[in-house]
Formats: sequence, structure tokens, C-alpha cells
Amino acid sequence: MQTEQLLTLAEHFGTPLFVYDGDMVIERYNDLRRFIDHPRLELQYALKANFNMALLNELKDAGCGIDAVSPGEVEYALHLGFSPDKIIYTANNMTDGEFEKVFQTGVIMNIGELSRLRKAGAAHPGMSVCLRFNPDVTDGDSAKTMTGGDLTKFGILLEDIDQVLAIVREYKMKVVGLHEHTGSGIQKPESFHAAMKALMSVATCKNFPDLEFLDFGGGFKVPYRPDEASIDYVTLGAGIAERFKAFEKEYGRELRIKFEPGKFMVAQCGTLLTRVNTLKRNRKRLIAGTDSGFPQLIRPVLYDAYHQIFNLTNPDGKEEIYDICGNICETGDRFAEQRPMPEIREGDLLGIANAGAYCYSMGGIYNLRAMPAEVVVKGGKVISFRRRDTDRDLIDNITRTTETCDMVL
Ligand code: LLP
Repeated sequence: MQTEQLLTLAEHFGTPLFVYDGDMVIERYNDLRRFIDHPRLELQYALKANFNMALLNELKDAGCGIDAVSPGEVEYALHLGFSPDKIIYTANNMTDGEFEKVFQTGVIMNIGELSRLRKAGAAHPGMSVCLRFNPDVTDGDSAKTMTGGDLTKFGILLEDIDQVLAIVREYKMKVVGLHEHTGSGIQKPESFHAAMKALMSVATCKNFPDLEFLDFGGGFKVPYRPDEASIDYVTLGAGIAERFKAFEKEYGRELRIKFEPGKFMVAQCGTLLTRVNTLKRNRKRLIAGTDSGFPQLIRPVLYDAYHQIFNLTNPDGKEEIYDICGNICETGDRFAEQRPMPEIREGDLLGIANAGAYCYSMGGIYNLRAMPAEVVVKGGKVISFRRRDTDRDLIDNITRTTETCDMVL
């Protein structure tokens, strides 16, 4: 988005403010469809990445489905008009109550634990199910978001296939899908192929006659650093389509191929606008204090993630090195540490890039500061505004949900 537009939005709606480019989200969706050229490709957007309503409506209208990970996400997607057959439920460590609630909606359950598979079969013999396997491929941009290999809680181990088959047989379950998700921000294209190979070999063991689809999760990375190479998605997508077609031949019939992109769809569409209100020199460090903070964009603190930051109001200033901090009472409350930036002055507006995925959605109200407002821009117009809670809203929510009790223990 152009700097002028960002300045206007900050002026009009105030800061901190999340700005999303709605056109870009649809472009990403169409890009991925073009890269993976397969007639039965289905994309199910990982709703956890960004649950902004206007963006979801755009995706729904474009034909996209949803990867949901909690009953709340399922209910929200249904509420927005996504039909149950467009949604997959990939929760982990779900309770019986959560399982039942989602099962009743008709959304396909994606199960990644033997224990849950057994409980599901016992409760609903003959049910259709998708099975999540651990692909035994380890990749991703942070150890905290790698979901294959030995150190993860996700998925059924490939070597447990006999136990899977025994449970499926006992409860006459219909396995309609197989699933894997390797990690978020997959660095090496080979990892996609290795994980696909693992899942396809489960499918071709011929013990799953009812398969309708294979789901290879998300993980398509986008560059965060200015010098970071992007993956050649044209080549990767062609390789994926080719391998899947070869697999279909071997399996003996046509299947659907699914992916669940989150970051790829929304990371780059978002910018967090925050204003610098305090400059301070702390002997060794020059500190730029902003009106946002880590609960509003936690990735640098949680994953040591790098987000590019632009000084939108002084882009040509003389370079200096800054710690760019928030307004939260913690020393670690930094968006960037020792970052070269064009001179920052009090009042300057900063734009934190790639703030569309896992920023607002991972946010919280620590220090009782409300999450920023959000706007969605499409075709040069603001099409949606979600206001920021007031301090009073925050307090009302606490008082509304708190009761005095006289329970004796
Ligand atoms: N499918 C499943 C089963 C997942 O667990 C995830 C992400 C996705 C799809 C989408 O992955 P993506 O395409 O967005 O990489 N908060 C972290 C990322 C956590 C990802 C969790 N699962 C971050 O900010 O890097």
C-alpha cells in the first residue's frame, strides 16, 4: 500500500492501527491456485492466522474453504456462511465436549491421536474421518512451529499405522482423508515433497479404500527480511501437481488435493501502524517508544521473528540504530533491537510490515491496553473498520464475567 494512503489512515483512524490490503489476499489465493495446477485443488485458509471478518468474506466469495482448530473457529466460519463441507476441523487435544459439538455440525474431523480416534469410533461407529499423520519431516521458521519429527505433539506416527487400521476396522470408520502439516514457514521446497511422499505412501498401502482427499497442510513461507530469498513457488507448485497426479495413477483413481495456507495468504497484506511518542537515550541505546506493544504483535518476542519496520514520515532521515519498543511494562517489549533506521523523531509514524498473519489473532490485552482497530482496504477504498475497544469496554468485560461465589471446599 502506498505511504500516502497509510498516512491518511493513521490520521483518520488513529494509531495503533492494523491495515489490511484485501486485494492482496485474493491475489495470493489466486496465485497459489495457479502455481498448484491441479483440477481438484482445494485451499482451506488457516483461520487462526487472521480472523478479520472482511478478509474472510472476501475469501469465501473467492471460493476458499477454512482450516479450523477450535469449536469457536468452526462456529465463526459457519456463521460467516462457509458451508460445513468447506471446513476441516484440525484441533489437537480436544475434549469429548468439543468433539461432539463440532461433529454435530457435519464438519469433517481431522484426528491426530490414536486415543481420540478410538473415542471417536466408540462414540460414532461408521463415522467418516480424516487422519492426521506426523510426516517425520522437520522444517519451519521456528522450532516452536515445526510440527513434524520427534519433538512435536502433532499427528499419528507413521509407524503406528497398524494400530490405526485396527481401530478403523473395529469401529467400521470410513477414512475419507489423510492429512499432514510439516510446519509454518517451510524453508526448503524438498520438505514439501518429502512430506507428500510420506503421506502418499500411507495412502497407497491400499488399506484406505474410501479416500476422497489428501491434505498437505500449510507452511508456504513468505520473506520477512529484506534480503530473504523467496521460494520459487512456480516450480514448487508444478512439482506438487505433478507428483500428486502420479500418485493418483498409482492409487488407481482421482482424489482431491488440499492445502491450508495461512501466512502465505495474509502475512504480507498487513501493516501495523504505530506512532513514536518518546525518544530516549539509555547510555548505550537509542530507544524509540511507540504507542503499541508486544501483546499486539508478539512474533518478535515469541519467535525472535524479524519484521521490517519503515519510518513512514521520515524515510530519508540519517540512519541511526534504535531499539523500537512498545508501551508495555516489560524490558523485552521490543519490535526490533539495534535496528538501523532513518532518524526517528517524536511523532513519526512507523509501519511494521508483514503484520497480517499471527499478529492481531495472537493478540491480547496485557496491561489492559485494547487491541488496535483494524481496517481493510480494497480497490483504493476502506471497506471495513473494526473499532478498538475502549478502556470502559475492557473493564465492562471483566466485571460482566466475574461473579462472587460462596462455594465451600
Ligand atoms: N494447517 C495446520 C494444521 C496448522 O497447524 C497451521 C499452522 C497451518 C495449516 C497454517 O500454517 P501457515 O501456512 O500459516 O504456515 N504463530 C506462528 C505460526 C503458527 C502456525 C500454527 N499452525 C507464527 O507466527 O509464525
